[in-house]
Amino acid sequence: MAAPEDMPEGTVRNVLQQETLKWVFVGGKGGVGKTTCSSILSILLASARSSVLIISTDPAHNLSDAFQQRFTKAPTLVNGFTNLYAMEVDPNVEEGEDGAEGMDGFLSDLANSIPGIDEAMSFAEMLKLVQTMDYSVIVFDTAPTGHTLRLLQFPSTLEKGLSKMMSLKSKFGGLLGQMSRLFGVGDELGEDAILGRLEGMKDVIEQVNRQFKDPDLTTFVCVCIPEFLSLYETERLVQELTKFEIDTHNIIINQVLFDEEGVESKLLKARMKMQQKYLDQFYMLYDDFNITKLPLLPEEVCGVEALKAFSKHFKKPYEHSIAKGTVEELEVRVSRLQEQLREVVSQLEKARKADQLL
Ligand SMILES: Nc1ncnc2c1ncn2[C@@H]1O[C@H](COP(=O)(O)OP(=O)(O)OP(=O)(O)O)[C@@H](O)[C@H]1O
Ligand SMILES: [Mg+2]
Repeated sequence: MAAPEDMPEGTVRNVLQQETLKWVFVGGKGGVGKTTCSSILSILLASARSSVLIISTDPAHNLSDAFQQRFTKAPTLVNGFTNLYAMEVDPNVEEGEDGAEGMDGFLSDLANSIPGIDEAMSFAEMLKLVQTMDYSVIVFDTAPTGHTLRLLQFPSTLEKGLSKMMSLKSKFGGLLGQMSRLFGVGDELGEDAILGRLEGMKDVIEQVNRQFKDPDLTTFVCVCIPEFLSLYETERLVQELTKFEIDTHNIIINQVLFDEEGVESKLLKARMKMQQKYLDQFYMLYDDFNITKLPLLPEEVCGVEALKAFSKHFKKPYEHSIAKGTVEELEVRVSRLQEQLREVVSQLEKARKADQLL
């Protein structure tokens, strides 16, 4: 079906073609295909851009599984590419490796009283680092929804943290410093260090916050599957993104069953019917989004070759083989239907004979 020019098309080509994009987030419910889709997006972007970095912020790192290559928290060149790098950061354990980060003891408890502050600080520090690295575009493979939304809230978490520390400082004056010494934390690790660290990040936070809210620079790709919970979660995600003023206009619906092999299984037919119901709802709810449908494959999408092969569905709407309809394929389908018909007729005859015998 030829879509009119102004209709959103069923691919992610808009993301690949938007040369100004610097940050591409990929998110959605657990297990729907975020890592697969973000990996493929990064591969496709690598052929359109000078350099691409894909970052996993999921503590259960799976870029290594998708690419079948071990990655660390430093950007590593992906095998077989000259301009695609990957890194896996763990937002939870980043701080204080060598104790020089100043988050020990009493002050750490204080900082921890601000929910998410540790995570927000390490996320901000990672972004600060990544910004100096000069990648043309950075793709995020995010953790399941709740976690992602928390990370995107990090500027306000940090601002809250900063003002809480400031107000404590002005209330208690030097007391904090004395206490930190009392609790065995040196001055260089004391409140000034934390305040310094927070304040030093203020610029980055403001800058990144501005960039995340700029649709020329940032977009969020929602991945889902055609099921109720995923539809529901996608809607929640889109609403939250709108609240944070983060652009989103791409939805990838993964694991779609296509009726291409003359499916006979009752279970599969029922699942297809169910999927169709939710697909219709997706199209209704998000008529201004680019909705890309990806087929459910019989096997996992593992390794660069499999990712590359699957990537064709990101650039061209999936057409299942019946729709493509080569003569041979139609012949196969017709003979299969004739076979089924013969079977039904013979069953019917058997049933009739049994009836006559009674
Ligand atoms: N269309 C598909 N057909 C078959 N297998 C798929 C498809 N999409 C993804 N997979 C496989 O499903 C598994 C889960 O996919 P993936 O890791 O991309 O999901 P995820 O959303 O990142 O999961 P998590 O929330 O655990 O990080 C992987 O083994 C992947 O290879
Ligand atoms: Mg994943």
